[in-house]
Amino acid sequence: MKLQDKVAVITGGASGIGAATARLFVQEGAKVVLVDLNEEKGKAFEAELKAQNADALFVKANITSEEEVQNIFKETIATFGKVDVVFNNAGIGRVTPTENLEYAEWRNTVNVDLDGVFLVAREAIREMLKSGGGTIVNTASMYGWVGSPGSAAYNAAKGGVINLTRSLALEYATRNIRVNALAPGFIDTPIIPEESKEVLKTMTPMQRLGESEEMAKAVLFMASDDSSFMTGNVLTVDGGYTAQ
Ligand SMILES: NC(=O)c1ccc[n+]([C@@H]2O[C@H](COP(=O)([O-])OP(=O)(O)OC[C@H]3O[C@@H](n4cnc5c(N)ncnc54)[C@H](O)[C@@H]3O)[C@@H](O)[C@H]2O)c1
Repeated sequence: MKLQDKVAVITGGASGIGAATARLFVQEGAKVVLVDLNEEKGKAFEAELKAQNADALFVKANITSEEEVQNIFKETIATFGKVDVVFNNAGIGRVTPTENLEYAEWRNTVNVDLDGVFLVAREAIREMLKSGGGTIVNTASMYGWVGSPGSAAYNAAKGGVINLTRSLALEYATRNIRVNALAPGFIDTPIIPEESKEVLKTMTPMQRLGESEEMAKAVLFMASDDSSFMTGNVLTVDGGYTAQ
């Protein structure tokens, strides 16, 4: 098992890529802390994992709140005593032509997708410095590498996550904290509107959407010792989209 007795905090853990990763981490021996805004889904998922004898804790938090992010780590330490892995994954995205993009929507997207990632990473680093190290995996996007019409705020924030990942990796490289990022392509999760799915398939060289489980395997690689000499890297898992 690749994460035996490790404690993993997963933001956006109630749905999609975060939930699939939580399932895989549990199979690999981890204790998981599911962090999400969505209390109903989060609690139901916590109950499901506990029914399978997994160690799981749901913590409701908005990653844009400094206080709530600090509370995630307090609760984690109180329950499991340490933090080894942080999958910094919660995010939002929506398509709005830039001429119609209200400043409030821009701010909200950047607030969740970039500021929130910073706040979670900072608290993770504070804990990992105390305990002697750990691994952080940030969720960026292939849209952090390339542009796309109607996603200015999202693309700017995800591009920010990629370079934030590199900066943190360099800053903590000698202190046993590895920081990498996942850049997914179009993945079949609730973030993608049903009516967009067919066109997104045709935009993808492999002519299908990715599955959350396929993201989870890449996250496990970056979170575990399998990637022990890798830091500041971005693993792009996109069915070939950015090879075009
Ligand atoms: N699905 C895709 O095609 C795709 C592609 C590239 C990147 N991503 C990224 O993957 C990550 C996970 O997305 P997903 O596809 O699993 O979508 P999802 O909507 O299924 O999951 C995201 C989860 O994050 C939670 N969340 C949103 N804002 C939050 C906040 N402020 N605080 C706490 N929790 C919050 C939501 O409640 C939800 O449960 C996101 O960062 C997204 O940008 C997704």
